[in-house]
Amino acid sequence: MKSVTDTLLDRRSIRRYEYTPVTSSQMDLIIEAIRNTPTSYNGQQFSVIDVSDTDTKLKLYSLTGQKQIKTCSHFLLFLADFHKISVIGEKIGVEMPAFNDTADGLIVGTVDASLAMMSAITMAESLGLGTCPIGYARTAAPEAISTLLGLPPKTYVVCGLAIGVPRETPDLKPKQPRELVVFDNRYPDDDAAMADRLARYNDTVTRYNATREGTKTTNDWAAHIISYYVEAMEFGMRNALRRRGFGLEK
Ligand SMILES: Cc1cc2nc3c(=O)[nH]c(=O)nc-3n(C[C@H](O)[C@H](O)[C@H](O)COP(=O)(O)O)c2cc1C
Repeated sequence: MKSVTDTLLDRRSIRRYEYTPVTSSQMDLIIEAIRNTPTSYNGQQFSVIDVSDTDTKLKLYSLTGQKQIKTCSHFLLFLADFHKISVIGEKIGVEMPAFNDTADGLIVGTVDASLAMMSAITMAESLGLGTCPIGYARTAAPEAISTLLGLPPKTYVVCGLAIGVPRETPDLKPKQPRELVVFDNRYPDDDAAMADRLARYNDTVTRYNATREGTKTTNDWAAHIISYYVEAMEFGMRNALRRRGFGLEK
């Protein structure tokens, strides 16, 4: 097992996997880490669908176009989940308010599910496994994926996570330097200095993209990310969330 430091500092997304499956004892540890995730109010407003069945993986692949889903050993889908608390509320006769319809309800479920995914990533990486989050599991086909997985109302897919035995070791991606990530005591007010630092980081990523192992590109960081936002604005997530029982009413 890798040290926590190595696990966190050597992590990178792995998109190619060996045919060797993840063992059930490795999955047990990953699931224990997921269960022990800190959550808002200790409400545990999340669930996970563990997809190991080939047919379901293939269907998810065809809905998302993400080939890691079909080649990984286990594909975990992390859900924000207010269905479970509604079920127990009804059983004990306590009325469930429409918290799921509020912006904070959406945030609470999303944060809980995201932290659970990071628990899974950290445990999997510490065991020498490779992981790749798959956001397209949320955005590509929300209704078809919900139907395929039998998701009840008041749940939605926050993110997927492919897990497998790594078949590649891509270069670590350069991340923003410390002074752009952690600000001492308050947010800085010098946008010109920030722009200069960001421009230097942008150049670093451009050089990395042109020289990294595997597929090389001429992309710079900022323009590439902004183009992703343009694409993502067409996903229609607000309506998809409303159909899942997250009304964003207040
Ligand atoms: C919420 C989330 C969604 C992501 N979705 C995808 C995805 O759909 N497909 C993919 O190949 N990578 C996806 N990634 C992986 C990112 O591209 C990756 O984390 C980023 O490029 C940084 O690289 P690194 O993980 O190797 O440090 C996702 C990551 C996160 C955190």
